[in-house]
Amino acid sequence: MAEYEYETHDYDVVVVGAGGSGLRATLGMAEQGLKTACVTKVFPTRSHTVAAQGGIAASLSNMGPDHWQWHMYDTVKGSDWLGDTDAMEYLARHAPAAVYELEHYGVPFSRTEEGKIYQRPFGGHTTEFGEGPPVQRTCAAADRTGHAILHTLYGQSLKNNAEFYIEYFAIDLLMDDDGTCTGVVCWKLDDGTMHVFNAKMVVLATGGYGRAYFSATSAHTCTGDGGGMVARAGLPLQDMEFVQFHPTGIYGAGCLITEGARGEGGYLTNSEGERFMERYAPNYKDLAPRDYVSRCMTMEIREGRGVGKGGDHIHLNLSHLPKEALQLRLPGISESARIFAGVDVTKEPIPVIPTVHYNMGGIPTNYWGEVLNPTADDPNKIVPGLMAVGEAGCASVHGANRLGSNSLIDLVVFGRAAAIRAGDVVDRAASPRKADKGQVDKAFDRFDALRHADGGTPTAELRLEMQKTMQEDAAVFRTAETMANGLKRMTDIAGKIGDLKVTDRSLVWNSDLMETLELTNLMPNALATIAGAEARKESRGAHAHEDFAERDDENWRVHTISRISDAKVDLSYRPIVTDPLTTEEQGGIELKKIAPKARTF
Ligand code: FUM
Repeated sequence: MAEYEYETHDYDVVVVGAGGSGLRATLGMAEQGLKTACVTKVFPTRSHTVAAQGGIAASLSNMGPDHWQWHMYDTVKGSDWLGDTDAMEYLARHAPAAVYELEHYGVPFSRTEEGKIYQRPFGGHTTEFGEGPPVQRTCAAADRTGHAILHTLYGQSLKNNAEFYIEYFAIDLLMDDDGTCTGVVCWKLDDGTMHVFNAKMVVLATGGYGRAYFSATSAHTCTGDGGGMVARAGLPLQDMEFVQFHPTGIYGAGCLITEGARGEGGYLTNSEGERFMERYAPNYKDLAPRDYVSRCMTMEIREGRGVGKGGDHIHLNLSHLPKEALQLRLPGISESARIFAGVDVTKEPIPVIPTVHYNMGGIPTNYWGEVLNPTADDPNKIVPGLMAVGEAGCASVHGANRLGSNSLIDLVVFGRAAAIRAGDVVDRAASPRKADKGQVDKAFDRFDALRHADGGTPTAELRLEMQKTMQEDAAVFRTAETMANGLKRMTDIAGKIGDLKVTDRSLVWNSDLMETLELTNLMPNALATIAGAEARKESRGAHAHEDFAERDDENWRVHTISRISDAKVDLSYRPIVTDPLTTEEQGGIELKKIAPKARTF
């Protein structure tokens, strides 16, 4: 057994992760006087939310008529009818208040002439329950909205006495025999010390797992750490087969070019100079939802109309836009295009390609962020002491496909909701449960085994194998053959975890060990993705199955639940929530408005 000394910390709440949802949860907890710690592997303002560009959706009606019910309808349709209706209503209803709250906290939003928050069009956001023209619903701080939000929330959290543990890597959850989460074990990266955090509520806000793929807009830190810890605790993941490809990642580099670029008037062209989206989506054109635009781009490339030497990408044109508009509204991506594609956007198109961007799936929760461990008897069974928010969680508000700018609003609405719920359920007078010694030892044993791993496969080599497999076999379009092949390859790859080789045995700034721990988190996420995809015999949202091209509501309007142990994934299914929060009589949406129908643009 590995012997590590450790320091113990007692809190009401420990939030793991300091991106948008983690900081909004931390702030909300601290505002209510809960003793709150936020543990994060990177400095808070370097969390991946800092890279969010285009904006945050809320029906403020600053640029024209809008309504929360139109936003809800668009989210339901965007999800391809796989989202949970209560969560989607909660999101759309609370979005305006959440954005005004951000404004009052100090987020420096761009402004209209009258001084209101500026809003731009984004894909899939419409008026009149999809019958009217596109709406300008996405509130923006130029094209650096995530950056602005993150800095503001960090400052507010400090002001409210939240305590930050920065550059602490969460190794594993502590679970009691009765299934309650009691805390988390962490490794402090800069001095090698070990820490046990006891808490009455642990909130996982660890972000997505984009780095399971070879090319992603996600930061290198997006390694699905929450999903990995949950899987090792014997808890499930949900809807992992739904991986969003953003239409406009820079070809080669993978960096994001915001959908706001098309919102401000940019458009895509093929090798014939044709604005091909007009053909596929006559109404919404370049502003159709992301899953659809990504598929259209892929079809253009497949049919020989891609641009560039290899005919393997597409052009995004902005040079017709006024220079002042580019400077005012899109300064960040103008710079990214120059640095990463060598392109002056005022003169040349940007080479782009659909790039992995977002995970709709994650740790199953209700709309309060409480983690669920569904059983046959109780599909909504709550795991006491554990919450998940943001991209790590699956509320499920995005279903099979997320609309652009619904991520930032998800972070703040559900980060806030988790804090409200914790305020109700956390017993302030009680002490946190003490960590179970056996559980702490188990976490250290795993850590120590990886630290001394002396097999034949370097971490970077195995990671690359995983990334290439996921890129090839769980792509924009999938076939029964590619997914069966992918599942077999990924099972073999996951089996090699026991053969890893770590060369640095130290405890201080050991990036070799940290990347190895991250790989052990990526692996269950990747496995669940390919297994869920292989099993789902339909096409829905981001899951485009070429052998089953239609959506099948009768058999597949269900959430996939994956339990992963070693290299094996056990799949089951759970009903989606079809009831909204409020009835029509209570001012809620008319049910027939959100009944499933064909998704056309
Ligand atoms: O395109 C973008 O600015 C990304 C936004 C989002 O993913 O919500």
